Amino acid sequence: MEYFPSNFLVCFVIPSLLFLLFRWRSNSGGNQGLPPGPPGWPLLGNMLDLGAMPHKTLTRLRHKFGSVVWLRIGVRNTLVIQSTKAATEFFKNHDLTFVERNINEGARVHDYHKGSLALAPYGTQWRVLRRLVTVDMLTNKRINETAMIRRKCVENMQKWIEEEASKLNDNGSSSNGVHVARFVFLMTFNLLGNLMLSRDLVDPNSKEGLEFFDAMRGLMEANGHANMADYFPWLRWLDPQGVKRRMKKHVGKALEIASGFVKARVKERKLVGGEKTRDFLDVMLDFEDDGNHESAKISDHHLNIFILEIFMAGSETTSSTTEWALTELLCNPETLIKAKSELNRVIGPNRKIEEGDIDNLPYLQCIIKETLRLHPPIPFLVPRKAVQDTKFMGYFVPKDTQVFVNAYAIGRDPDVWTNEPDSFKPERFIGSKIDYKGQHYELIPFGAGRRMCAGVPLGHRMLHLTLGLLLHQFDWALGRNVTKESMNWNDRLGITMRKSEPLLAVPTKCLV
Ligand code: HEM
Repeated sequence: MEYFPSNFLVCFVIPSLLFLLFRWRSNSGGNQGLPPGPPGWPLLGNMLDLGAMPHKTLTRLRHKFGSVVWLRIGVRNTLVIQSTKAATEFFKNHDLTFVERNINEGARVHDYHKGSLALAPYGTQWRVLRRLVTVDMLTNKRINETAMIRRKCVENMQKWIEEEASKLNDNGSSSNGVHVARFVFLMTFNLLGNLMLSRDLVDPNSKEGLEFFDAMRGLMEANGHANMADYFPWLRWLDPQGVKRRMKKHVGKALEIASGFVKARVKERKLVGGEKTRDFLDVMLDFEDDGNHESAKISDHHLNIFILEIFMAGSETTSSTTEWALTELLCNPETLIKAKSELNRVIGPNRKIEEGDIDNLPYLQCIIKETLRLHPPIPFLVPRKAVQDTKFMGYFVPKDTQVFVNAYAIGRDPDVWTNEPDSFKPERFIGSKIDYKGQHYELIPFGAGRRMCAGVPLGHRMLHLTLGLLLHQFDWALGRNVTKESMNWNDRLGITMRKSEPLLAVPTKCLV
């Protein structure tokens, strides 16, 4: 017997359900004094509305909903900050209310979140780690002491690119170009390896170095995927995309190798002692040895996690920014010519760029700012979380709401960037005081407020040195058949926002 004849189902039940769904969807926004936002679906909320490039989708919503947008993604209430005005209010008057981070499922493996600075609750451990990075590791004086290391690393990168270019020439396929971001990533990884551990980690002779590199790539890849289990807690046990499983494997391997590095160093320090340049690991171990910090002791496990964190924070951010900068320059040849002529004038043909040159290269600085304005590598910053129920710009924001500060939308805010906000025009920064050090809320690729990036001084130098060297040492052209018009401008949001199709560019060594 048929209880629900199919014509009854088609004629009555399905239309009624659809009607209820649409009614629910159109009623779901704008109540309880929440900020405005698009209506959501039952259970899913706005998840399906965000698409593959959520920073762009949300930027488009600004026209309809204004400076702040309210979303529900699965079970998570989400506030999106979309304009300079809202960012100013957020960082100036509400920084403390939103000072905490959301912990995703992937970050819980091996208790990663407990040793992380970026995810630490705003308390003693965060303060201790943050102080170690900003005061003991990355003051200008300490950074100056390691300038030679960075120089060696960028010069190695130059050699790798020259070798790759000559291989392409041998194959007769030079016109396809070199995958520049890959070499920049390897270089930054090696650079951080040297600063942190005094080791070349991508040296083919270092087996553990290469294993560490693979594990870090794996965990960044796994961590870069949106995980359904974060939005639907009842799916946690299922781990539907296998994110947690992969994170467990890669974080476990990376921690095991990092722990080997630390043990070897502890042994070495006992045997050798005496004078040697202190790297970041020495700073951490000295802190551990110092009995005065009992209240904020860093365990061995947390120390290993901290090592992983520095690699994650500094490597992809630098390589994706360099890739976007070169892409924009190759598609705007007049800016490329200006940048090269500045480098040739200031540095000349007989030496290579040094960090001391950066202050004398204002146009290069404008290029980096303009690239970070249009292509902030972490477009939503590291999401914050409301510590308590609060009022924000007249709206009610409940406790535990996650906050995306859309640095991508803010960098293109037409109220502030009035001259063609979507175009690459480094000149807009000439004579302007706007900087990315956290005081100018219209340009926040490193964030702002208490949880702002702890590595700005190092990131600043790495970006200028890397791009400066690439432009000074090589002439660049786009690969065959690629033009500004045919270039794929899409990006892909993983752990950072990078070009979805890597830039392939043809380098020719400048004759000096
Ligand atoms: C192009 C280079 C870089 C960019 C664009 C960048 C961007 C960011 C952003 C957007 C945040 C989140 C800020 C917020 O939530 O308000 C962040 C946090 C952080 N970054 Fe960076 N970063 C870069 C390089 C580095 C480097 C080289 C290091 C370390 C050596 C580093 C260490 C950190 C740490 C530890 C945090 C967490 C800070 C906290 O929660 O207190 N970053 N970074």
